[in-house]
Amino acid sequence: MEFAPISGACGAEVFGIDLEQDLNAERVEALTAGLGEYGVLVFRGQALSPEGHLAMGKAFGGVNVNRFFRAVEGYPGIAEVRKEPEQKTNIGGQWHTDHTYDTEPALGSILVARELPPFGGDTQFSSMYAAWDALSDGLKAMLCGMKAVHSSRHVFGPRADHVKGASDLAGRLGNSEAAVQDAVHPVVIHHPVSGRPSLYVNRGFTVRFDDWTVEESRSLLEMLYKYGSRPEFTCRVRFEPGTVVFWDNRATWHCALNDYAGYRRLMHRVTVEGTSLRAWQPGPKERAAA
Ligand code: SIN
Repeated sequence: MEFAPISGACGAEVFGIDLEQDLNAERVEALTAGLGEYGVLVFRGQALSPEGHLAMGKAFGGVNVNRFFRAVEGYPGIAEVRKEPEQKTNIGGQWHTDHTYDTEPALGSILVARELPPFGGDTQFSSMYAAWDALSDGLKAMLCGMKAVHSSRHVFGPRADHVKGASDLAGRLGNSEAAVQDAVHPVVIHHPVSGRPSLYVNRGFTVRFDDWTVEESRSLLEMLYKYGSRPEFTCRVRFEPGTVVFWDNRATWHCALNDYAGYRRLMHRVTVEGTSLRAWQPGPKERAAA
């Protein structure tokens, strides 16, 4: 297999593997290392069946069944990411990291393109390694000791927009009574594979810093959200028939672009089980700045 980077910050195209046929322990190990390094792996020209898609999820740690997305008929382990021509709101249309409201957040997600619009519908990713690395030593020193609270309630719970009729996601998202998760994670994590520090707050699910109020947290979180989506930290994936994208939730944010009004976009997503996350231990420069 070969990895060809697609931007200076994150993402690589992977050549030399047929995901339906060729996944063995050695390749899973190499892809795990590649995912830890690049954060996003893009595979072209694949013919991945739903069974192969689930087998890939199992190979990388097990399938985490999303509680809120509608499942693909006959495949409860595969979530449907659908937007119909007449629908306005897309799923995942703001910067976020999947499942950070879980105490053991998902390692990553594997997205398979099933039906694509004639243009648009790309997904942007941002490297939380690059974002962390570029922060000042002073802010790093402060953030190193902090934790943040993440929640599913405002996105999927009874007061979410689609439940109140303020978006047309109802039917594509559901099970709002199951949105009772809150989790506390370090603001900067030690990436379990690469060992690198990675900024771990996101606009979708982080609600405040631990031991801070929502109001106290707002401006610093907002600064980090704006900063973390700087173009130089990102890459953009254009989907073609046969494209499969595997991203690492511990190293990236993503945002699905909603620029294909009047056309259907249908993706299948398998979410891969993860583990609890540990805090990054500051190095000498960060300790000196504290
Ligand atoms: C998601 O947020 O998981 C959806 C990503 C996409 O549809 O590109």
